[in-house]
Amino acid sequence: MTTDVLLDCDTGIDDALAILYGAGNGARYVACTVTHGNVPVPLGTRNTLTVLDAIGLTDVPVHQGAARPMAQPLLTAEFVHGQDGLGDAGIAASTREPAGTLAAAEIVRLARSRPGELTLVAVGPLTNLGLALLLEPRLPELVDRVVVMGGAVGVPGNASETGEANVWHDPEAAQLVLDAPWDVLLVGLEITMQTQLPPEALARIRDSADPRAQLTWRLVQHYLDVYEEVLGERTCVLHDPLAMALALDPELATYRLVRASIELRGERTRGQVVGDLRGYGPAPSDPADPGVVRIVDSLDTAAFHARFLRALGA
Ligand code: BDR
Ligand code: CA
Repeated sequence: MTTDVLLDCDTGIDDALAILYGAGNGARYVACTVTHGNVPVPLGTRNTLTVLDAIGLTDVPVHQGAARPMAQPLLTAEFVHGQDGLGDAGIAASTREPAGTLAAAEIVRLARSRPGELTLVAVGPLTNLGLALLLEPRLPELVDRVVVMGGAVGVPGNASETGEANVWHDPEAAQLVLDAPWDVLLVGLEITMQTQLPPEALARIRDSADPRAQLTWRLVQHYLDVYEEVLGERTCVLHDPLAMALALDPELATYRLVRASIELRGERTRGQVVGDLRGYGPAPSDPADPGVVRIVDSLDTAAFHARFLRALGA
């Protein structure tokens, strides 16, 4: 079974892992579009090309997109992903040129050209998606599914006390995505923090001769250092691969609908996803209602890890 995926990313170590995960688990990449986020957008674009080329996907077009958020200055996260965004592991950069069309325009063009066929997976700040929604308000009818790695519903943030990085990097764009009338799955820290790779899984990656595992082992060293500092354990969290996994195989998890919006004004809380977890009144029933999102309730973490390792040949 293959799924036609349009991936919007800010590559980034775990974005790279998401690309690898998808390639090994039935994603057919129609295109990748790139946003600012982990690194400035020209570097994220280059990194996306580098990862695709490294696994033989040299014909997947990569479109550069937004260079900064809608209403705040650019902030990047080299301390998490390395100065080169790929863990400073000396991975040779692709020399392939990005495609000519800019990301938001390409999202609209592809969605219009194949109405109802594409799965949109967004694993970076949501600026490109927000712009695409402004350009084409019918975008929600034109795509099949939307899966976003973002938010931290009912749990602490990572970019701030309450803010998860992808939402926090462009809160206005995230609000546009939540307000759009589509069934959006928000894969947030409340579930991605449960995806830490155990030592046995890391050992399998280290010991595999498969080039995809070897690439991964090089990519994750910096990530392991960062998580060792943050969590006190030499592990890493598979944020973006989980979004890809649930786009391809929704049955790996169970879900519930919540009403949610983005905090746009708080001095400490700007960029927080505020989910209404009170359970008052009738539960939301239509995922396409503006302001209603799907979040993950429970995850088969073992099955997800097994598919991750399989994609790497580990
Ligand atoms: C998200 O932020 C970025 O650092 C990662 O690539 C991921 O998309 C996690 O909060
Ligand atoms: Ca990302």
